Amino acid sequence: MKKIAVLTSGGDSQGMNAAVYATVRAALSNGMEIYGINHGYRGLIDGDVTKLDAKSVEGIVHRGGTVLGTARCPEMKTPEGQKKAVATLKKFGIEGLVVIGGDGSFAGAKVLSTVYGIKVIGIPGTIDNDLAYTDYTLGFDSAVAVVVNNVNMLRDTMSCNDRTCVVEVMGRDCGDIAMFAALCCGAEAVCVPEKGYDPDALAEVIKRNASKDKFDNIIIVAEGIRSDGTLDKGHEADKVMKDILDRLPTLNIRSISLGHLQRSGDATVYDRKLGILMGNLAVECLAEGKTDRVIGIKNDKVFDEDMVSALSEKKQFNQRIYDLANNLVKY
Ligand code: ADP
Ligand code: F6P
Repeated sequence: MKKIAVLTSGGDSQGMNAAVYATVRAALSNGMEIYGINHGYRGLIDGDVTKLDAKSVEGIVHRGGTVLGTARCPEMKTPEGQKKAVATLKKFGIEGLVVIGGDGSFAGAKVLSTVYGIKVIGIPGTIDNDLAYTDYTLGFDSAVAVVVNNVNMLRDTMSCNDRTCVVEVMGRDCGDIAMFAALCCGAEAVCVPEKGYDPDALAEVIKRNASKDKFDNIIIVAEGIRSDGTLDKGHEADKVMKDILDRLPTLNIRSISLGHLQRSGDATVYDRKLGILMGNLAVECLAEGKTDRVIGIKNDKVFDEDMVSALSEKKQFNQRIYDLANNLVKY
C-alpha cells in the first residue's frame, strides 16, 4: 500500500495527537505517502486534505485536542455523503484510512470498506471509555486526571466551609470517568448510569458522615445518570443538588459541572504512550493489507481485532472499581 490517510472524528480526546504522530511517522518509515483529512468526515466529504511530512507532526504528542480538527458530520450517514467521501479518497489515490474516534466514527469507516473497498483501521479515541473490546480508550486516563486534579482543588474550599459539593463529569451513558475519578480522589459518593440514580442514598451518606463529625463531601455524578434517557449535559449537578436539598433543606451545598475541561490540557503519559502504540499498530495493519480492524489494549497489550466482532461486544460494568470507590470512603 502506497498512500494512506488519517482522520480524527467525533468528540476529541487527549492522545489523539499522539496517535496521529505515530501514524504519520510510521507511514513515512514504511515508505508510504500519508495524508491528513481535516475535521473528520466533514473534510473527507469536502476534499479538505493535506499531505503530511515528518515536520507536520513535530511537537504534538503531548497536546490535547487534535491538530487535524474534528467534527460531527451527519452527512456521512447518507449515501450521497459517503459517495463524496470516497470520491475524495479516489482523487488522491488513497487506499487505506486510519480513523481515530468512537463507535460512530467506526461505523462510518465500516461503510467505506464494505461498500467502497477502502481499507480501514479504527483507533478508539474518546474520553468516555465506552467501548467494550478495549480496556481503555485514548483520552480516558487524561480526563480522569483532570477530574481528580479539579476535585483536589475543590476540597480546599469545601472542607474549610464544611460543605458538600456535587461534581458532574462527562461520559455519556458510561460511568467509568465518574467511578475511576471517585476512587482516585476519595469522593464520598459516586453515581453512575449503570447503577441508577438514588438521591435518598446520597442523603443517607451525608447524614451518616455528619453523625461522625464529617461535614464536607464530594459527590461525583456522571452526566448520564438519569435512566429516562434525557441527557441534560452540564445541568445534572444542579439537579442532583436540588434533589439533595429537597431531602436535607439546611445542608450547606454547592454544585459544579467540569464540562469540556475534561477534554482539555496535555495528555497524560499513559495516553501519549497508548496513542503512539496504537498509531504504529494501525499502520502495521495497513502495511500487511489488513482491513476492518480496530486497535485496542487488553492486559497491557496492544492488539488488533475484527471491527464487527469488536463492536458487537457488550461492555462489562467494572464492579470492582465501583465497589472500591464506595467501600473505601466509609466512615
Ligand atoms: P463517536 O465517533 O465519538 O462515537 P459520533 O457518534 O458523533 O462520535 O460519530 C462521529 C461521526 O461518525 C458522525 O458525525 C458521522 O460523521 C460518523 N458516523 C456516525 N455513525 C455513522 C453511521 N452509522 N454511518 C456513517 N457514518 C457515521
Ligand atoms: O463523547 C465524548 C463527550 O465528551 C461526552 O462525554 C460528552 O457527552 C460529549 O462528548 C460532549 O459533546 P460536545 O463536545 O459535542 O459538547
